[in-house]
Amino acid sequence: MVAHWRSAWITGASTGIGRELALQLAARGVKVAASARSVDKLADLARADSRIVAVPFDVTSLDDVAAGYRRVVDAIGPVDLAVLNAGVWHPMKSSAYDARLATRSIEVNYLGIVNALEPLIPAMISAGRGQIALVASVAGYRGLPQSAAYAPTKAAVINLAETLRLELSRHGIVVSLVNPGFVETPMTAVNDFPMPFIIKPDDAAARMIRGLEKGKFEIAFPWQLVAMLKLLRILPTGLYLRIAGRLEP
Ligand SMILES: NC(=O)c1ccc[n+]([C@@H]2O[C@H](COP(=O)([O-])OP(=O)(O)OC[C@H]3O[C@@H](n4cnc5c(N)ncnc54)[C@H](OP(=O)(O)O)[C@@H]3O)[C@@H](O)[C@H]2O)c1
Repeated sequence: MVAHWRSAWITGASTGIGRELALQLAARGVKVAASARSVDKLADLARADSRIVAVPFDVTSLDDVAAGYRRVVDAIGPVDLAVLNAGVWHPMKSSAYDARLATRSIEVNYLGIVNALEPLIPAMISAGRGQIALVASVAGYRGLPQSAAYAPTKAAVINLAETLRLELSRHGIVVSLVNPGFVETPMTAVNDFPMPFIIKPDDAAARMIRGLEKGKFEIAFPWQLVAMLKLLRILPTGLYLRIAGRLEP
């Protein structure tokens, strides 16, 4: 399969990976609806390419997402590709557990996707086609230090993507899961620990587009970090706990 999208809706498009993805898709002639909360940043992005339209809203509100989705369709027509990418990262040690940060992470990283799926799935089922990419993380494979707020949300997204792929392919909908390793964006700028194999956001966006075009299920990069974390996933739990425990800063 080589996908030919006429339209794409990207959440979390004001900065980082989502912004690069919007620019690269628009450069290929795709009409892009770019969503996030930052109205000014989205307006800047729309000025960079006339094929990009800013459709700002907060993904944590089901009503705002429903209204935002209607504005997206008005602006770019039926959505061929949706990349549900909005996310927040709150580093949090379990010894300083903060329920508000954990809740906020669930609201944006998981429920933000859930809210977007509600209008997308019926529209794509009635069209008999469409592609949905859920952006999770390699941090969703297993528990990791400082990830008590973040990683469980990404594990949930990985599981959700699997179920959607299983059930929606018979309706002509391609579901993909994007699991990036470290990418140099505002999200990772707060990190004070080494980030092995970190890549630039334009590289991440290009890798995503290549995988999505092929209709791949999992698009994970860079391979070195993916291999290390997938190894942790298949190790017996006792061994994984011993190794991952040594990663504690
Ligand atoms: N960077 C990495 O190393 C890395 C690794 C693995 C996975 N990821 C995932 O990749 C995705 C993109 O991350 P990034 O690195 O590009 O981060 P980023 O530059 O911080 O971008 C996050 C995007 O999400 C949007 N967002 C946050 N809260 C929102 C809300 N409530 N409603 C709507 N939009 C919201 C932000 O826009 P506003 O603030 O304007 O709303 C921004 O556009 C995230 O899901 C992240 O978890 C990133």
